[in-house]
Amino acid sequence: MNAFETVQTVLAVRAFQDKPVPTEVKNRILEAARLTGSGSNHQPWHFILIENRAELQQLGAVARTGPYTAQAAFAVVVIIERSPIALSDGSRAIQSMLLTAWADGVGSNWVGFVPMPEVSKLLDIPDTLDVLAILPFGYPTKDIGQGKKNRKAPEEVFHIGKFGNPYAPK
Ligand SMILES: Cc1cc2nc3c(=O)[nH]c(=O)nc-3n(C[C@H](O)[C@H](O)[C@H](O)COP(=O)(O)O)c2cc1C
Repeated sequence: MNAFETVQTVLAVRAFQDKPVPTEVKNRILEAARLTGSGSNHQPWHFILIENRAELQQLGAVARTGPYTAQAAFAVVVIIERSPIALSDGSRAIQSMLLTAWADGVGSNWVGFVPMPEVSKLLDIPDTLDVLAILPFGYPTKDIGQGKKNRKAPEEVFHIGKFGNPYAPK
């Protein structure tokens, strides 16, 4: 898959096979986060890898909008400094991880939003930092990602020249 194909086909994955993800793939996903560009190259982030089943279950129990984290092969908790630009930087690192994983057939999804105090407490995260998201990773149980997306039409979101002149690429 080239870069556009990953964007075109990736979908939120919320159910995972009970199958390990090779270490090489897992490390590549983490590396994608670390290599992401950030504002002023400040890199205001940390990434916690969770791969022990009991710890994944504890994480799933505090992730109100992502209990399926408990079934993931592993998860990455994304932690950021407390600033608007760090929010953008962390979000960009998340997209790097999601697309890198998908290119290897590994599904994931963004769970939660800043702050997540229960997760901070569970993982001993310092008070000066926030949890931005949990990303559970694993092989999807269903054959999803065939490029079928429920998205707004091009002319609803694309404009040409000025706001209000719809643009629909042919
Ligand atoms: C900032 C953000 C927060 C999200 N939070 C959650 C969440 O807490 N739980 C969840 O299951 N999905 C969450 N999602 C996933 C969205 O529901 C998903 O991206 C959207 O429905 C589109 O899904 P699709 O790409 O499969 O069409 C979040 C996505 C984003 C970008």
